[in-house]
Amino acid sequence: MNHWKTLLQNYLKAKCTRTSSSEYLVSDEVTSEKVSLALEQFMNSITSTNSKYDEFLKDSTVFTASEKRGFKLFNTEYNPFFPELSGADCQHCHSGLNFENDQYMNNGLDATFADEGRGKATQDPADNGKFKVTSLRNIALTAPYMHDGRFNTLEEVVEHYNSAINSIIYFRSCIRADSRERTFSY
Ligand code: HEC
Repeated sequence: MNHWKTLLQNYLKAKCTRTSSSEYLVSDEVTSEKVSLALEQFMNSITSTNSKYDEFLKDSTVFTASEKRGFKLFNTEYNPFFPELSGADCQHCHSGLNFENDQYMNNGLDATFADEGRGKATQDPADNGKFKVTSLRNIALTAPYMHDGRFNTLEEVVEHYNSAINSIIYFRSCIRADSRERTFSY
């Protein structure tokens, strides 16, 4: 048995209460599949439903001026013909209540791919450089960012979308330094 499996099994034996997932895990040999299932169950138990954003949607709170600008910027499309009216277009991929669209996309991190991402699974070169569009719920708590953790802060992420987009095939960069200063009427 691999070292990590021994450690995990000992940990589970010592720590686990009798929930269905832990019983399942300790009752038998630890396998990668069971660990994946346990992790899935754990991840499904993490919910984010009561943020300020959720309160805003329920009309129970109001945004500050800065939050209003961010909301507008995030949700406004990029239009090359009207750059001064354009937003950052984040909602195109980070859509809906969970800020994701259940797809694999290229967000312009690299021009050549050290990690082929989705392409590694499908063996289709057109999928190289595509990664699962991540939910942005609780995003301030989950640094570092991107599949390889290359960005330590959200400021670095925004700066990437602002100025460092490497692959334009599926992506159009939209945030510009001047648009951050722009005031939106909301
Ligand atoms: C073309 C689709 C697309 C658009 C548009 C887009 N993103 Fe993303 N975003 C992605 C993908 C795909 C990932 C995951 C990349 C990875 O794992 O390497 C991602 C990752 C992120 C992450 C890191 C998530 C994590 O858990 O590591 C943040 C934060 C983020 N995007 C914010 C934004 C913001 C803000 C905008 C608007 C300026 C935006 N995104 C626009 C596709 C997009």
